[in-house]
Amino acid sequence: MEIIRTVDGLRQQVDQAHAAGKSVGLVPTMGALHAGHISLVDRARKENDLVVVSVFVNPTQFNNAEDLATYPRTEEADCQKLEKAGVDIAFIPTVEEIYPEPDTRVFELGEVAEVMEGAMRPGHFNGVAQIVSKLFAIVNPDRAYFGEKDFQQIAVIRRMVELEGFKLKIVDCPICREEDGLAMSSRNTRLTPEQREVAPVIHRTLASSVDWAKQHTLAETKKYVIDEINSFPHMEVEYYEIVDPLTMQPLAEWTDARNGAPVGCVTAYCGKVRLIDNIKYNL
Ligand code: PAF
Repeated sequence: MEIIRTVDGLRQQVDQAHAAGKSVGLVPTMGALHAGHISLVDRARKENDLVVVSVFVNPTQFNNAEDLATYPRTEEADCQKLEKAGVDIAFIPTVEEIYPEPDTRVFELGEVAEVMEGAMRPGHFNGVAQIVSKLFAIVNPDRAYFGEKDFQQIAVIRRMVELEGFKLKIVDCPICREEDGLAMSSRNTRLTPEQREVAPVIHRTLASSVDWAKQHTLAETKKYVIDEINSFPHMEVEYYEIVDPLTMQPLAEWTDARNGAPVGCVTAYCGKVRLIDNIKYNL
């Protein structure tokens, strides 16, 4: 595996690969890699000739300075995992390399970016659109891989791709979970042992709410999820919305979903750690 730290260096390698008729898969990450990331890499490995993984903690998507400062940075361990997974190129730039000047672009992301994470973290999705569009412009991948844990992020990236006219396939990959159901996340390492024991209540509750939903209204199901998670120590739900899977707009009734099964999206604090998860309601 080659570690590349400059935009020009990366561009050269991917241009060569494209010129040789090779397909290129990109897995954008912020490092602190876990099995969830590696599942994206495995999928990219199967589907592409050249696999590029970017490891970059993107400052423009953090709307909280403490969150950015404490975001785990584990480059050496990340490189070992990527090498083992058969990655061709790890792209690990500095902030100055990616943003030689401040990125002032404002994307018209529309309704998909206005609710949930968009409402709670102003500017977050614009920052995601900035970095992902830069990576797409540099790598020009045939396919890019994203985890469904960040369900709304995928909708936002699809919107950015439409706006910018990128020609690539966005591949969404299923959530990877720990044995006790907790969705894998780089943030899980920040949980105390006691909090780590409680945190699986998020997935457990979402999973049990699918049965509950068969006999209850959407509003009752929302209340059930929020009350159940909040009844545990350390836990506090920030929002729980059941949304249309394409538009991300919150639904009032189960029958309001126009584009497939409704998806329940939750963000909950476990102590100071902000965790997200989601579930499909195939009713
Ligand atoms: O999902 C993430 O880890 C980040 O938002 C991404 C897509 C790598 C952009 O920084």
